[in-house]
Amino acid sequence: MIKKGIILAGGRGTRMSPLTIGINKQLLPIYDKPLIYYPLSVLMLAGIKDILIIVNKGQLTQFKHLLKDGSRFGIKLSYAEQFNPKGLPDAFILGEKFIKKDNIALILGDNFFYGQSLTKKLKKCLNLKSGCKILVHPVNKPELFGIATTNKKRKIVSIKEKPKNSKSNLAITGLYFFDNKAVNYSKSLKPSKRNELEIVDLLNKYKRKNKLSAEYLGRGGAWLDTGSIDDYYNTSNFVSTLENRQGFKIACLEEIAFKNNWINKKEIKDAVGFYGNCNYSNYLKKLIK
Ligand code: DAU
Repeated sequence: MIKKGIILAGGRGTRMSPLTIGINKQLLPIYDKPLIYYPLSVLMLAGIKDILIIVNKGQLTQFKHLLKDGSRFGIKLSYAEQFNPKGLPDAFILGEKFIKKDNIALILGDNFFYGQSLTKKLKKCLNLKSGCKILVHPVNKPELFGIATTNKKRKIVSIKEKPKNSKSNLAITGLYFFDNKAVNYSKSLKPSKRNELEIVDLLNKYKRKNKLSAEYLGRGGAWLDTGSIDDYYNTSNFVSTLENRQGFKIACLEEIAFKNNWINKKEIKDAVGFYGNCNYSNYLKKLIK
């Protein structure tokens, strides 16, 4: 059973420049909340309470100011700094002391997931005992993502990072479930031509040992990312459309914690004090009426 998670929230954010010159991408708003709330909500929905957030150099203070030690959400947050964006598997090297002997979930700080049965699916993935499980979803532009090719039995045949002419449109989303071997495997990886440790190289280590499996998010699930400015605003519009239509919030962390019985009414009231007079607080107040 996986009980720990890492959010990788560093990176250069160059595709979003100049927005990301002065502020970490994961602290920019997706409609009414900072982007980091969304991947954090995914781990919390899965039931993970022990979470390491990796940020880039010099940005710890901003993240801690916002999220603190996690007790506002009934969880335990730790932080680590990544001095250079060395690639996604660097999360396991930087997180070694946090991970200890445990298995681990990794989510990229700029990924957004939403949909019916998402929580059920996530909980299923947490049952991983050995190997690696990736969450896959179709996309229109395979050249922008890590892509998995599967056979008729939905077994992964190959994986490639941003292939030019892929026949498969099955993207590897930024949510992964790993056994503890990920730490040593990551340490043994060599940087690629673009001088990064590549997540596909790590996944291929599992694949070669027949230990890589895929879970499908399914057609009713939404997976969006905020890689480009347009993707960023599309994700924001998606949240705004759903929230305003339905009247409930996506990724309200205190709501998830309250429903998980991790915090009580008093802690919700404290959160209202923390946020001050805003729509988010009004929503929290309604929860405990
Ligand atoms: O979004 C899913 C895709 O994410 C996967 O399909 C790809 O296989 C995977 O490589 C990744 O591709 P991206 O091109 O989106 O990766 P990017 O370099 O933009 O980094 C994704 C997030 O991870 C972003 O929030 C920044 C953070 N990051 C990235 C690197 C390389 C770090 O915190 N540290 C890093 O060293």
